[in-house]
Amino acid sequence: MTTQIHLVVDGKSHTLSVDDPNMPLLYALRGELGMSNPHFGCGLAQCGACTVHVNGQATRSCVTPLSAVKDAKVTTLAGLGTPEHPHPLQAAYVEEQVPQCGYCINGWIMTAAALLKENPHPTDEQIRKGLTGLKCRCGTHMAIIRAVKRAASMA
Ligand code: FES
Ligand code: FES
Repeated sequence: MTTQIHLVVDGKSHTLSVDDPNMPLLYALRGELGMSNPHFGCGLAQCGACTVHVNGQATRSCVTPLSAVKDAKVTTLAGLGTPEHPHPLQAAYVEEQVPQCGYCINGWIMTAAALLKENPHPTDEQIRKGLTGLKCRCGTHMAIIRAVKRAASMA
């Protein structure tokens, strides 16, 4: 038996027909909607690569059942800004030349965007605390901190 679940992703309304309503939101975004920004890293809520915003809250989509986001507003990295009007964090990432392989970027930007929304001018300590638990295997951490500070200075 299929279940229909409605949600809004990056401003577009979708009704998904799924066999398992408890499938991870990440699988629905990538597999059902063909989105490529939320990445599968660990699948265990430990790396942050899959982070999206659910009703404005940074959420690890690999461990969030689709049924839990019924009628929710989901924002992905693609919905944060556009090439013409990037989010300050997206612009700062380019200006600070943060990415190496780029796999982790989704998690850091989506988590930092939620942090800056709540606290537009965080201290270094608040930035580090807010980004705790995210992983970058390429070691871009110092550049990421610079980018978050740069984005905060644009606000
Ligand atoms: S893939 Fe979700 S936290 Fe790692
Ligand atoms: S840029 Fe490669 S994992 Fe972070």
